[in-house]
Amino acid sequence: MKIDINIENKNDKNYSIYINELKKISIDKKIAIITNPKVSGLHLKTLLNNLNSKELYIITIPDGEEHKNMDTIVFILERLHEHKMDRKSLLVAFGGGVVGDMTGFAASIYLRGIDFIQIPTTLLSQVDASVGGKTGVNNKFGKNLTGSFYQPKAVYCETGFLKTLQNREFSAGVAEMVKMALTFDKDFFHWLEEHDLKNEEDLIYAIKKCIQIKADIVSQDEKESGIRAVLNYGHTFAHVIENETNYSKYLHGEAVSIGIVYANLLAMKLGLLGKDEFKRIKNFLINYDLPVSYHIKNYDKFYENFYYDKKSNDEKINFILLNHIGNYKIINNIKKEIVISTLKDGNIA
Ligand code: GLY
Repeated sequence: MKIDINIENKNDKNYSIYINELKKISIDKKIAIITNPKVSGLHLKTLLNNLNSKELYIITIPDGEEHKNMDTIVFILERLHEHKMDRKSLLVAFGGGVVGDMTGFAASIYLRGIDFIQIPTTLLSQVDASVGGKTGVNNKFGKNLTGSFYQPKAVYCETGFLKTLQNREFSAGVAEMVKMALTFDKDFFHWLEEHDLKNEEDLIYAIKKCIQIKADIVSQDEKESGIRAVLNYGHTFAHVIENETNYSKYLHGEAVSIGIVYANLLAMKLGLLGKDEFKRIKNFLINYDLPVSYHIKNYDKFYENFYYDKKSNDEKINFILLNHIGNYKIINNIKKEIVISTLKDGNIA
C-alpha cells in the first residue's frame, strides 16, 4: 500500500509513504545509512539484503534523545565528507525519530542539501516523525529548536521491524497515535478504545490510519502555518518536560502522554472538555502503561519555558486544546493564572 504526500503547488516536494513494500530496492547512488547500534544489531542485515546500491557506508550514531544535538550532526557531516559523498548521494535514515530527525537535518545542510529517505523502525517514527519533513536537533533552550523543513524522497514503513520493540517504545508510539485520533477523528478514538494494538492486524490498520491523517495535514500545510500546529497537541507541555529532564528521563511519546493530560486539564478548566472525556483519555493512556503525571518543581519557570515553543509568537503562547474528543481549538490568550493553576492541578508528586 502507498499513501501520497501532495504538498500544494510544490510538485518537487511530493513523495510516497510505502507501507510493507520494502522488497528489493536498487538505488544507483552512493548511499550512507545512518543508524544506531540497537537498530543495526537487530535489523541492518535485513535491510542490506533488500538494498542494492553503487557504494554503501554505514554511519552509527549513539541511541537516545539526549544525543540529538549539534555534536552528533557534526559527527555525521564529518563522516559524509570522509566518504566523499557528493550532491548525487543519498542518506538513509534507519531508526526511530531521533535518527530520522538528525539524518534529515544533516541531509538538508550537507553540500547545501542532498536527498534522503526514511526507513523508520519505531512505531512513533512510522506514524508521525518520519512523515512530513520536520528535521532538527534539541538544544539547552528547548526541543527541536534548530532544524529545517526538508522532505524525504520516500518513506518505507515496514511493520515487521516493530516486532522487536520494547513495551516502552511501543507505548510511546501509541501516544502519538491517540493524539491524531483525539484531535481529528472521534470515531478513530472509539476504535482505539475498543481494539488492542498488540494485535498485529489492528496495529497495521491503525498505522495506516495515522499515516493517512498525517499525510493529509502535511499536504495542506507543510510549514505549520495553520492546521499542522494541531499535531503539537500535548507537545507544548511535553517539550518543557523533556527539556527540564535533559531529554533523558522520558521517551518523547511518554512526555507527550503527560502533555496530553496537562492540555486536557486546561481544556477542562476552560469548559472545552468534559470530566468523563478527560477520564476516558487518561484511562486509555494508563492502559498502555504511559505516564500521566509529572512533578513540576517551579511553576513560573515551567511557564516561562513555554515561550521557547516554536508555536509562541508575539509574546503569546498558542495552546492546542481539545474542544471535545475529535475536535480542537487553538487558543493564545489564556491568562497566566489559569495556566499556572492547571500546572498545580496536574502536579502529582
Ligand atoms: N510531529 C508533528 C509534526 O510533524 O508536525
